Amino acid sequence: MKHYNVGIIGYGWAATAHIAAINATTQGRVSAVYSSRPLDSAELSAKHGGTIKAYQSLDAMLADPDLHVVDITSYPSQHRDQAVAAANAKKHVILEKPMANTPEEVREILAAAEANGVKGCICFECRYSNQFQVTKALIDEGLLGRLHYGEVDYYHGIGPWYGQYRWNTGKKEGGSALLTAGCHALDALLMLMGADVETVSSLSTKSSNEVFTPYEYDTSSVTILHFKNGAVGKTAAIVDCLQPYYFHTHLVGSEGSLLDDKFHSAKLKADKGHWSTLSMKMLDSGDVSDHPYQAQFQAFFDALDAGRDMPLTSFKEAKKTFDVIFAADKSAAQGGQPVRLG
Ligand SMILES: NC(=O)c1ccc[n+]([C@@H]2O[C@H](COP(=O)([O-])OP(=O)(O)OC[C@H]3O[C@@H](n4cnc5c(N)ncnc54)[C@H](O)[C@@H]3O)[C@@H](O)[C@H]2O)c1
Repeated sequence: MKHYNVGIIGYGWAATAHIAAINATTQGRVSAVYSSRPLDSAELSAKHGGTIKAYQSLDAMLADPDLHVVDITSYPSQHRDQAVAAANAKKHVILEKPMANTPEEVREILAAAEANGVKGCICFECRYSNQFQVTKALIDEGLLGRLHYGEVDYYHGIGPWYGQYRWNTGKKEGGSALLTAGCHALDALLMLMGADVETVSSLSTKSSNEVFTPYEYDTSSVTILHFKNGAVGKTAAIVDCLQPYYFHTHLVGSEGSLLDDKFHSAKLKADKGHWSTLSMKMLDSGDVSDHPYQAQFQAFFDALDAGRDMPLTSFKEAKKTFDVIFAADKSAAQGGQPVRLG
């Protein structure tokens, strides 16, 4: 049954959640880990199960003909080189967000995968969360009618209490509030609105609290999207807040509205003065062990079996989100000037 051997690049926080999620799928098993630190194969195998070989050379790991998939959980500035090397070695690629921190790097990753005939999966795992799967089903059932407004916002304070802070504060790795974390919210908004973006405007700022002073970029941004079908949307990406993690969703359509886990649909003839409640598992934690990686990786392996691009989070689909993010960051750098998508 287990016919995809997976090699992990990077052995940090995200990697630990990935290993458990891959091993819990029907077809995948982690058989190798590459890290810049020396790791012990026996210790890795005992900790995660199965037989895992530790590598300190990426080329050596990629040269293994029995490795079928490479899963990249390294620093964002390493994503392009490692993804291109994996694709050139004819390995399918799972790649953590951000896909990369520049439009050129994203294009190079996509081109390398296409040239080598390998498939890709970007870790926009929120698309596979119960919250957004149920929300999408509600939309697809027509209960909200035609959406003309949507906002999905990301509030998660990434201060010194959070492991990533040590590298996330730098522009080179963190990039922007959207690239480092808000990308999940913008990506969810695009999935829920189901339309292409025509223009984008964004403004950014940062908290005056000294714990956020080390950040080399604005850690709060608000982005307004104008969709080709006439709808409008908004994403706030806030990584300098002091509050519980909050993934805010508000959708407005011709037949009703949805606010997080509450909705009203005129089609159901319920009382418009009160919300009805949806029972679903909410995205209410930044902890990687709570993220729906397993469902996403299962969908990736199923797509590999079928020889198809994976649904929802293929390289091609994720590039659309990063195109909007790069346009938004360009707009913010120009004081909010609208930027047209190509
Ligand atoms: N999809 C999500 O929701 C999500 C969540 C967390 C992280 N991520 C992404 O995963 C990637 C990695 O993030 P992370 O939180 O695992 O970061 P991390 O700091 O835990 O690990 C990052 C990298 O640093 C290396 N590293 C860690 N400690 C090290 C040490 N002492 N010496 C040398 N190298 C060390 C790790 O091997 C890894 O390659 C990033 O791209 C991040 O954006 C995504």
